[in-house]
Amino acid sequence: MRIVFLGAPGAGKGTQARRLEARCGWPQVSTGDLLRAAVAEATPLGRRAKAAMDAGELVSDEWVMALLDERLRAEDCSGGFILDGFPRSASQARLLKELLRASRQRLDAVVMLELPREVLMKRLTGRRTCSATGKLLNIYFSSAEELAASRAAGGELMQRDDDTEETIANRLSVYERQTRPLLARYADLLRRVNAMGTPDEVFERILEVLPSADSMMPAANPAGPSPGKSYG
Ligand code: AP5
Repeated sequence: MRIVFLGAPGAGKGTQARRLEARCGWPQVSTGDLLRAAVAEATPLGRRAKAAMDAGELVSDEWVMALLDERLRAEDCSGGFILDGFPRSASQARLLKELLRASRQRLDAVVMLELPREVLMKRLTGRRTCSATGKLLNIYFSSAEELAASRAAGGELMQRDDDTEETIANRLSVYERQTRPLLARYADLLRRVNAMGTPDEVFERILEVLPSADSMMPAANPAGPSPGKSYG
């Protein structure tokens, strides 16, 4: 299956895409993660992309496509993938269409996670990643046990550079201007999911709108996502 996860920053795309990967085996491909890895490695592309990311603006299509094209050619994407954070503009939707057409593939579903703005803000300002386990946590929503497990593993709770209130506000307005209009474009494939509630509840709703998710592939990793990978 080839699935796109759409939704505003903080809607839970990364959280849910990783759950679906663990359950069904299609890799989560997050353009945000690919870009952050390039920044962390200080590659030429990463150095150029950082300013746009820190400002909450979109990175140029050319650079995003360079990373995405290479990632989607990897062997683990041959049976399907979950796109998290791509496409996020009309031009990227066109580029995705071309890329899929060239490899004789098609999208199967577009999952839209819906959440009120005030909750998005709280999820983003509270987001932290455990430096030891790579687990995505939230100082407002994670349980005391999850936060204690991170401390016990010797991890620090790291905040993303773009999770400041000012940058979040710009990311949300970029989303409204450039990404939300894609809903009309994908009307035929669109599955709207209420993203309020616990991660488990949201995941159940996603499985309900993807009826073939369980049957199409055996569980690839019943133990859950691998540690050490950052969340989108
Ligand atoms: P990207 O990394 O894609 O960020 P984003 O789209 O802003 O989305 P987020 O990762 O912030 O949120 P999410 O929906 O994944 O939520 P999450 O699951 O983490 O992009 C970052 C930047 O890179 C962009 O601004 C841009 O500059 C650049 N970029 C990326 N892709 C690009 C592209 N295609 N083109 C151009 N530029 C691009 O959850 C958020 C928090 O909520 C976490 O703390 C989590 O634990 C918590 N949480 C999740 N679900 C629940 C729940 N049900 N209940 C309680 N808490 C929850």
